[in-house]
Amino acid sequence: MSTSTLNNPLSEPCVMVIFGASGDLTKRLLVPSLYNLTCDELLSPNFAVLGTGRSDISNDEFRQSMASEDNGLRAFHTRNSFDEDACEELLSRFYFEPANIDLEGFTKLKETVAKLDEEYQAGGNVLFYFAMAPRFFGSLCENLHKAGFQDGDGWKRIIVEKPFGTDLQSALDLNAEILKYWREDQIYRVDHYLGKETVQNLLTFRFSNGMFEPLWNKHHIDNIQFNVCESVDVKGRGGYYDHSGVLRDMMQNHMFQMLSYICMEPPGSFDADAIRNEKAKVLESVRIYDEAGVAENVVRGQYGPSFDDAGSIDKPGYRGEQDVNPESKTETFAAAKFQIDNLRWQGVPIYLRSGKALWKRGTEIVIEFKKPPESMFKGTEVTQLTSNRLVFHIQPYQGIELLFQAKTPGPTVQLQSVDMAFDYGDAFNASRYTGYEVMIYACSRGDATLFSRGDLVEAAWRIAQPLLDYWAKAPAQDFPNYARNSWGPKAAYELLEKDGRSWFEVVTPDVLEELPMFKDADRLLLNAVILAMQSVSKEAGDVIIQKGDTTEEMYFICRGEVQVLDNKDEVVSELKEGNFFGEIGLLMSTERTATVKAKTSCDLFTLSKSVFGRILRDHPQFADNIMRIAKERYDLSVSMSDLTE
Ligand code: BG6
Repeated sequence: MSTSTLNNPLSEPCVMVIFGASGDLTKRLLVPSLYNLTCDELLSPNFAVLGTGRSDISNDEFRQSMASEDNGLRAFHTRNSFDEDACEELLSRFYFEPANIDLEGFTKLKETVAKLDEEYQAGGNVLFYFAMAPRFFGSLCENLHKAGFQDGDGWKRIIVEKPFGTDLQSALDLNAEILKYWREDQIYRVDHYLGKETVQNLLTFRFSNGMFEPLWNKHHIDNIQFNVCESVDVKGRGGYYDHSGVLRDMMQNHMFQMLSYICMEPPGSFDADAIRNEKAKVLESVRIYDEAGVAENVVRGQYGPSFDDAGSIDKPGYRGEQDVNPESKTETFAAAKFQIDNLRWQGVPIYLRSGKALWKRGTEIVIEFKKPPESMFKGTEVTQLTSNRLVFHIQPYQGIELLFQAKTPGPTVQLQSVDMAFDYGDAFNASRYTGYEVMIYACSRGDATLFSRGDLVEAAWRIAQPLLDYWAKAPAQDFPNYARNSWGPKAAYELLEKDGRSWFEVVTPDVLEELPMFKDADRLLLNAVILAMQSVSKEAGDVIIQKGDTTEEMYFICRGEVQVLDNKDEVVSELKEGNFFGEIGLLMSTERTATVKAKTSCDLFTLSKSVFGRILRDHPQFADNIMRIAKERYDLSVSMSDLTE
């Protein structure tokens, strides 16, 4: 979202009617978005908000509850600082009218809208926001129509929240029901991922930079990975989630939207329909699986509990969550391989992975390019090349990174992974947005680019439906099959291993910061460390660190578990996904005091002291801090030469 300083036009005049105005969505997202538009001076002075619902509250009570400190704008705003004047100015345009969803209720509502229209000179424009459960959409549309809301001057538009249907048939029915009373060009179906700057930038990145488009096809790209990891669990939304699962909640909508941006053909223009035609077209080219295809290409998971050091459950598994069936078969994780059967992408696997209660929060899209022939390097120290990768960091870290290899300085040919990175935070000094402001703004201006058209929603359900059918027919027998805070079920790794590939795990700065040594460390240092980490796989029983050896690596567990053994080979502790070990090895060369063995097969990231030393030599400003932390946390006195030798 850009600000008024860039001379953007104002939103169009209108009365915005919110159905479900006392709900969470209104407080957490809609009002903070309207507030952001006010602060950025993008909201037309001829814009009023009319909340409606069953509560019998006055305008003043509505305004107070929307502004409240514990459950309103003061709590949920996203600006760096709170602007009282802007808040007051915005709330002065808020009104409330109790109404049932029936003809009588809406006839009265129409009178209030007409009064506000006159007072605010809104030109008859009305934007209806359906912030309610989809089961009400049909009656909302019908009664708005019957009450005559479509008549008169000005435009009338509706914004419809997700979920748009719960399967293909219900989405078809819902579209048919809405289209009985509204034209497609009046319907704005929300997918809040399209409101994210980093998602919108996918299109701009692809089509405003000439250098990547020639490479954007099966001849140069080996595979594409979409990864949406969430560390949160179902967070009190068990009642909803147990009827949804990750396929309906994340993949069918948000992830397929990103997939269509990354894989669509160039549109003829940036017009809403030109873009939406291409998005729908690419989803229509995704191969629809039969049962065997689902069994082979899709993996599901459900999280189990986490345990404290004494072995007691400290957080329940999914089946123990509030409002969740204790025998639930709902998936909280899924990984899938899709194929797009068109000229551009034929044969390029498109991998998607998403889940709840995972070890980190991070949404990334990884474009992995084909490798050049390794044989060219024969006779040098180089035995293996790493693919070039273009990584779109969607959130929470926002940026774009190109990973490539460079020769390490020295007399022989040795390679090291390095990157070129663009960080939104460095390039743009913008406040954080909710993602909804751009959608309200665009809708008021009649721009449907950021909204889903009916055909795209249906195409997305067509891809998802066979997965739902197969899972209903063959419920998972192994749930729960991944631990809280882990990387998800092992089968997700095997899905790629059988193709000779692996997930590109993006270690984010917040993950490294869990290690005392890197807590609050400078971003530059964290990024350098992340790039320098190498991946290694170990089989169950492999010794990773041998007591008495002087090894100098730190390890980070991506998948699997390790055991720490004492002198008598007795297990003193076990570490799992997300844990680090061996970090003292980065600080000084010293004999290891315990043996660490893989308990299961493991995927690990490792960082060696020599590489860490080089990073500190390149960034000596960070060494003091590392020395201080070594003393405070590990009681080690290390010098710069200890660290960098
Ligand atoms: C919502 C889902 O649509 O998206 C939630 O219902 C999920 O389950 C959320 O947590 C993720 O959104 P974001 O913007 O945090 O990635």
